[in-house]
Amino acid sequence: MKRTLIHGGTVVNATGASVAEVLVEGQHVTAVVQPGTELAQQIRRSDADLVDASGCYVVPGGVDVHVHLQLPMMPGATSSDTFDTGTAAAAWGGTTTVIDFAGQLKGIQVRDAVEERQAEADGQCAIDYAFHLSMGDVHDQSLKDMHALVEEGITSFKFFMAYPGAWYSDDGQILRAMQVAADTGAMVMMHAENGIAIDVLRDQAVAAGQTAAVWHGRTRPSALEGEATHRAIALASVAGAPLYIVHLSAAEALQQVVWARDRGQNVFAETCPQYLYLSLEAGLDQPGLDGVRHICSPPLRAQAEGHQDTLWRGLRTDDLSVVSTDHCPFCDNEKLLGVDDFRNVPNGLGTIEHRMDLLHQGVVTGELTLARWVDVCSTTPARLFGLQGRKGQVVAGFDADLVIYDPTATQTLGSAAHHMNLDHSVWEGVELTGQARSVMSRGTWVVKDREYVGRPGHGRYLTRATPEPLR
Ligand code: URP
Ligand code: ZN
Ligand code: ZN
Repeated sequence: MKRTLIHGGTVVNATGASVAEVLVEGQHVTAVVQPGTELAQQIRRSDADLVDASGCYVVPGGVDVHVHLQLPMMPGATSSDTFDTGTAAAAWGGTTTVIDFAGQLKGIQVRDAVEERQAEADGQCAIDYAFHLSMGDVHDQSLKDMHALVEEGITSFKFFMAYPGAWYSDDGQILRAMQVAADTGAMVMMHAENGIAIDVLRDQAVAAGQTAAVWHGRTRPSALEGEATHRAIALASVAGAPLYIVHLSAAEALQQVVWARDRGQNVFAETCPQYLYLSLEAGLDQPGLDGVRHICSPPLRAQAEGHQDTLWRGLRTDDLSVVSTDHCPFCDNEKLLGVDDFRNVPNGLGTIEHRMDLLHQGVVTGELTLARWVDVCSTTPARLFGLQGRKGQVVAGFDADLVIYDPTATQTLGSAAHHMNLDHSVWEGVELTGQARSVMSRGTWVVKDREYVGRPGHGRYLTRATPEPLR
């Protein structure tokens, strides 16, 4: 069996950091030992490959629990990263597990949606992957199918309070689904924006001739994210189900999550790098292509309203549990479909490669501790989505998904440098300190000394447990 000893680095887990040596045998970490001990010396005398991580952190591979690869969003617009290109780009940035979505639209059977998505990803991924189910048609059969999926290892389900006429579920449908989640131990994920009210504002804006990109943001005010988050929390409380708010962008929504968590309710939330760094003023409120490139939902928020500081604070205080990307990139020709009318722009941004680095920048600026960086990028997302004991920690027995991370490397983000299949970048020109030097997935190098050595098909489909008892 192949053995590798990573030595000289500082091992960082969500519990803290210490200088240690990491032994990988086959696909697993089998020991984390103090340098200089008899065990460490024994390992060095063995046939293990020695990898020097001096000056670097050794961290668990990132777990990005919210991505959309090759997602057909509207006629003529499919997210541009495939399972192949998107998982390779993720690996470049130190992410070794992604969770994408199988989507059940109206009239489609849950089973067919899952099988179709599994066939698309099969043999394509460079890193391990799994699926949530996005449910757009809640009825007796789909609720029954939820039970079967949980048995099979799909243990999280996304519902939408937005997008009436498409993905939207009403409160009764959501409550019924939450009751099934409470019975099965599954996690309910919620897109919490009040879509009914948003559509009124959207139609009024368009009738008044306001069709530029910035109106995408102005017609989705943060109060309507706060309202929907409150309603989702109330419904989850009635059903007794755990709840995970996806892509939380607004201070009002975080306030509701704090309220629920302070009462001891099993409510969790993720935010995304775009809400921590980008804004309505600097992103959406630009003419033409520059504006539409920044359209995503929820929208980038007004800097002047102070959401970003609140979100960073939420990450520090554990009111926000996870940072995912909601990676859903569209190339310029598809973003341009709505250059004259924001309603026709496919929603989503490309960030899968940069999540670990953008959050490490929070360590550099003093917003987060090193341990908290690892917690929100790897440990907690693994635990909340049924990968506990396998992913998200550098601990004996876990999968050898490891990143040798150079905290002193500098980089400038942009489309010429990135590996995502995307012809522009909302991160163009952003300068960061820190970069993944080498990335290992289940004992196999995917990136070695900034060279890509991965392959499509290395990544395995993960069946997941129900989330670890929630805190
Ligand atoms: O704009 C976004 N977020 N696109 C992806 C779909 C979703 O709602 O997560
Ligand atoms: Zn969503
Ligand atoms: Zn999404």
